[in-house]
Amino acid sequence: MDDVFVSRGSVIRVCLYAVIFLLFLELSLNFSVHRKTYKMVSSSRRILTTLEDVSRFSLIVNFSDPCGWMQNATIRDLQKIRDRGCKPVRVCSSSPSELVGSLATYKEAPSYKEMIKIYPLVRPGGLYTPPDCIARERVAIIIPFRDREEHLRILLHNLHPMLQRQQLHYGIYVVEQENGTQFNRAMLMNIGYAESIKLYNYTCFVFHDVDLIPENDRIMYDCRDSPRHLSSAVDKFKYKLPYPQLFGGVTAIKRAHFEKVNGHSNKFFGWGGEDDDMFRRLVNNGFKISRYQASLSRYKMIKHLHDAGNKANKRRHHLIKTGKGRYRRDGINNLHYKKLGIEYQYLHTRILVSINETKVMTS
Ligand SMILES: *[C@@H]1O[C@H](CO)[C@@H](O)[C@H](O)[C@H]1NC(C)=O
Ligand SMILES: *[C@@H]1O[C@H](CO)[C@@H](O)[C@H](O)[C@H]1NC(C)=O
Ligand SMILES: *[C@@H]1O[C@H](CO)[C@@H](O)[C@H](O)[C@H]1NC(C)=O
Ligand SMILES: *[C@@H]1O[C@H](CO)[C@@H](O)[C@H](O)[C@H]1NC(C)=O
Ligand SMILES: *[C@@H]1O[C@H](CO)[C@@H](O)[C@H](O)[C@H]1NC(C)=O
Repeated sequence: MDDVFVSRGSVIRVCLYAVIFLLFLELSLNFSVHRKTYKMVSSSRRILTTLEDVSRFSLIVNFSDPCGWMQNATIRDLQKIRDRGCKPVRVCSSSPSELVGSLATYKEAPSYKEMIKIYPLVRPGGLYTPPDCIARERVAIIIPFRDREEHLRILLHNLHPMLQRQQLHYGIYVVEQENGTQFNRAMLMNIGYAESIKLYNYTCFVFHDVDLIPENDRIMYDCRDSPRHLSSAVDKFKYKLPYPQLFGGVTAIKRAHFEKVNGHSNKFFGWGGEDDDMFRRLVNNGFKISRYQASLSRYKMIKHLHDAGNKANKRRHHLIKTGKGRYRRDGINNLHYKKLGIEYQYLHTRILVSINETKVMTS
């Protein structure tokens, strides 16, 4: 009897161990899946993951330099700059003499390691401050993104030299949506706004599709008195504006104006409609959209080999029609997402987010 009792006890114990082991396996597998998602983004680059890191590495302000605060300076600080004997004391031109006009675009995608040699003045996170003048504005370039790593490198290779010639104080923010969910371009742009102003007091936003390459450096990536549609002449559309209400591709808008219209709508999942909705938000709030002439604002669209499951949004016409009554509670004041990570990578800051479609559509 005793023998049987003991072996029954050990059977129970073995079962218990097995259950604990399986639980542990399940947990660690789950964990490694998450870690893998995160790792993929960061492989083989020096990554700074927190704001503390960023200040420690003096990316925004070099505190050990008596003129380090200059990284933060605005044109209102000109007197302070003179008083303290810091340089530069000149305001950047709104059409710098370095501009060359029409550009031969780069079609290749160098590795990040190669690019940081080409663009040594860009700080980790894709931040840049003109070395010899004070910029008028602080521009955040926001790129909604998923699964287009090569296109991103091509774009960064084209943007950094151009933005430096334009003497802009800028940062490049890539907002990546996790796999397996419907892409929401407009909401990613809202998230880019919300996350970039946590890092820095930006005054101007340029929202930028990853596959559009500017062909002229006189397309200024700054903000003027009215919101501007920059990519009005794209090679794919024979350099003609498809329709006058278009406000997609690449757009530039002052922070105050963006906030006035409550940003973009969060409700457009899948392809199409969100840009037309934004056009209506702006026009309904009394803004006039401006554009450069078509001969200037030319872009090349990078050809897509495959599409990351971005299906046309069947609800888009309905959403556009009902947008006017909804915009005050559908935008940057009602933004629900999960931030999975933020990384200050070479030549750009990467923000990985998770969006729950059910939650967004019902909130
Ligand atoms: C999404 O899937 C693509 C293709 O499988 C992969 O290259 C990419 O790294 C994935 N993105 C994330 C955030 O895991
Ligand atoms: C910060 O300023 C100090 C003093 O001017 C300088 O030695 C140092 O190289 C600077 N650090 C960076 C990251 O620019
Ligand atoms: C520079 O700007 C950052 C972000 O806007 C702010 O946190 C920081 O205190 C500023 N530093 C100085 C020295 O002005
Ligand atoms: C951010 O910039 C705006 C416009 O230049 C300014 O009015 C505001 O005081 C700044 N906020 C901070 C926290 O520096
Ligand atoms: C998404 O949100 C809905 C409603 O808030 C919730 O029931 C569901 O569990 C969420 N899904 C995930 C994957 O978190």
